[in-house]
Amino acid sequence: MNIGNIVLPKTACLAPMAGVTDRAFREICKEMGSCYLVGELASSKGLTYGQGKTKELLGVTDMERPIAVQIFGDDPLIMAKAAELAMTFSPDIIDINMGCPAPKVNKSGGGSALMKNPPLAGEITREVVRAVPVPVTVKFRKGWDENSVNAVEFAKIMEANGAAAVTIHGRTRQQFYAPSADWSIIKAVKESVSIPVIGNGDVNSVESCIAMYEQTGCDLVMIGRAAQGNPWIFKRIDHYMKTGEILPAPTVEERVAVLREHVRRICEYKGEHTGMREARKHAAWYLKGFNGAASLRRRSGELMVYDDLIRLTDEILELQ
Ligand SMILES: Cc1cc2nc3c(=O)[nH]c(=O)nc-3n(C[C@H](O)[C@H](O)[C@H](O)COP(=O)(O)O)c2cc1C
Repeated sequence: MNIGNIVLPKTACLAPMAGVTDRAFREICKEMGSCYLVGELASSKGLTYGQGKTKELLGVTDMERPIAVQIFGDDPLIMAKAAELAMTFSPDIIDINMGCPAPKVNKSGGGSALMKNPPLAGEITREVVRAVPVPVTVKFRKGWDENSVNAVEFAKIMEANGAAAVTIHGRTRQQFYAPSADWSIIKAVKESVSIPVIGNGDVNSVESCIAMYEQTGCDLVMIGRAAQGNPWIFKRIDHYMKTGEILPAPTVEERVAVLREHVRRICEYKGEHTGMREARKHAAWYLKGFNGAASLRRRSGELMVYDDLIRLTDEILELQ
């Protein structure tokens, strides 16, 4: 499929996850086969007020291409200005977040709150499209709640206002992240627009990725939580799509090697002090399912320096 003139293979891509999909994790997923990346969401107001932290979120490197940066907000002109500023980081695509359920984001009218105001959402998309030379995409949900499911109407409005593609997460805002996603809404959106549709929600294996393609007809599958501690999901999907074969699960040695490299990069990009604090959750995810997982998880939470990770994983290699 194409987003503007960017061609993406029908494999799978990493979903944006604030606090998780930083440069280190995006690079690891890219190397494993994620065909496309989206940065962590950044506030349009933070950007236009020149907050350093917001800018940190938007940096992209050439190896991550094609990559989108994602912005949120509720004011069309501030969003357009923020998109223009975001272009100084040279993203390939600007993605607008209209799906985030966090009260902090919704309170100001941004994220999924825009699903309650489709005309305003359309205006935001139109102004952002007008402001930047790259394709603009929109990520949203099934609706605000079960009484106001409007993803189909919403997708049509985004298309009419110039969106080059849409991503749909098959849950309402009120559902946050559970129970299971409704893939029939992804199919309904796909059938109602001519721009590409990226399907998202609960894909956690090669089999469920194929099932989402078959059941929804979507153009690309996006994977979030199932990639945490498990970037191999992209390699397995990529390999299956190219060969029809299912790869064996990664060995303990492979999992340890990728965890170490992932954390090494977090420390390289953020410094060891901040990096190791952020690495703790990733380590706990990678170590899920290992012998003695509960104690490993607890010890992951106590990692202070990179050498602690090396010692912990040396023990794992001896034990497994
Ligand atoms: C910790 C976390 C952070 C997230 N942050 C973002 C974000 O910054 N932008 C966004 O569009 N979606 C965000 N999401 C939603 C995911 O992109 C995705 O839509 C959702 O997790 C459903 O996909 P999954 O079932 O594959 O996890 C986040 C989800 C999680 C769990």
